[in-house]
Parts: sequence; C-alpha cells; structure tokens
Amino acid sequence: MEIRRLFMNESPPLHLLLLADPSRELVEDYLKKGICFVGERNNQILGVYVLLQVGPESMEIKNIAVDENHHGRGIGRQLIGHAISYAKEQGYKTVEIGTGNSSIGQLALYQKCGFRIIAVDRDFFTKHYDEELYENGIQCQDMVRLSRSI
Ligand code: ACO
Ligand code: ACO
Repeated sequence: MEIRRLFMNESPPLHLLLLADPSRELVEDYLKKGICFVGERNNQILGVYVLLQVGPESMEIKNIAVDENHHGRGIGRQLIGHAISYAKEQGYKTVEIGTGNSSIGQLALYQKCGFRIIAVDRDFFTKHYDEELYENGIQCQDMVRLSRSI
C-alpha cells in the first residue's frame, strides 16, 4: 500500500472520514486546517488520516479510518506508523490522538502503537454531538486523550 498526501483538487474520502467522526462539520473544519494522507492500493483508497498541528512541538491524528472490508489487516497500524514518521521528519516531538471511552479496539490499537493515556475530556461527546453514540454496548461520552513521544 502506498501512503501519500491528497493531491491538490482531489476530494478527500469523506465516506471513510465519517466512519471515524460522525460530525461532518468537525471533519470539514480539520480538513481545512490539517494535512490529509491516503493509503492506496491498485487505485483504491483503503485508508485515510488527517494530521493537524496542535502545539509548537505537537501534531495530532484528528481522524483515522480504514475501509470496512479491510479492517484487521494492519492498515491502521501502517497509517499510524506513517503519521509518526512524518511528524518526526518535520521536527515535532509528540503525536497525540483522542478517541471515545467506548472505542475499545481503537484504544487497544493506539496503545499497541506506543500511545499512553494522558487525559480524559469528560462529556466531550455529550457536549459536542447532537445524537447519542453507542459502541460495544457502551455510551460514548468521554474523550480519552493519548500521546506518544517521537
Ligand atoms: N482487544 C485487543 N486488541 C484489539 C482489539 C481488542 N478488543 N480490537 C482491535 N485490536 C487490535 C488488533 O488486534 C490489532 O492489533 P495487532 O496489530 O497487534 O493484531 C489492532 O488493534 C488493529 O490494527 P489494524 O488491523 O492495523 O487496524 P485497522 O486496519 O482495522 O484500522 C481503525 C483500525 C482505523 C480504528 C479501523 O477499525 C476503522 O477505520 N474504524 C472505524 C473508524 C474509527 O473508529 N476510527 C478511529 C476514530 S478515533 C480517531 O479518528 C482519532
Ligand atoms: N469488548 C467489549 N465488551 C467486553 C469485552 C471487550 N473486549 N470484554 C468483556 N466485555 C464485556 C462482555 O461482553 C460482558 O458484557 P455483557 O454482559 O454486556 O455481555 C462483560 O464485559 C463481562 O461481564 P461478565 O460475564 O459479568 O464478567 P465476568 O463474570 O467474566 O467477570 C471479571 C469479569 C471479574 C473482570 C473476570 O474476567 C475476572 O475475574 N478477571 C480476572 C481478574 C480481574 O481482572 N479482575 C478485575 C481487576 S480490577 C479490580 O479488581 C478492581
């Protein structure tokens, strides 16, 4: 799989980005400010992530998503590895990522990639999203923030 920046004038894969974040408004906002990378094989986009500078020495993976037919094959791990290498090359010292309290698989993946929990933003999802979100039978209410030195 080749991981590359989105070309100028190329539309971002919104259907994938919305798998990671149901708020189209928030997705469009960080797409404007951040850098969008796609993972592609045989002209098919299999994954996407958006990286945004959030501090003088820090970038955050604001959105990461893999095509549902290709989950569990290491693509998410590859995209995270790419984000870490890219941020390091650009001279950043940390990469951050946040996910819902109910996102058990995502929390597992991020910790396997070396991220550690640094904070919990209580009620982030109840405040910022109109509809109630559920995953794994758990209501998604709090944002778990993780960080990794690079
Ligand atoms: N317990 C333990 N480990 C788990 C669990 C679990 N319940 N669930 C998943 N994992 C592990 C897997 O075992 C695997 O680890 P391994 O490489 O050691 O075997 C890892 O998590 C999954 O790795 P990948 O196969 O690389 O991940 P995938 O390609 O499926 O992509 C992703 C992961 C991006 C989260 C995908 O499932 C997806 O697109 N989900 C929908 C969108 C989404 O939720 N995005 C993240 C939102 S948060 C944000 O965007 C910042
Ligand atoms: N993803 C989603 N849901 C999960 C997952 C997962 N990876 N793993 C477990 N669950 C859910 C199950 O689906 C189930 O939910 P459900 O009732 O909605 O189906 C629930 O967690 C498990 O419920 P029980 O069957 O009632 O739990 P069990 O009788 O297995 O006891 C316990 C759980 C006590 C943690 C047991 O596994 C155990 O003794 N583990 C070893 C000791 C231990 O770790 N103790 C806790 C340490 S922390 C402490 O002591 C304060």
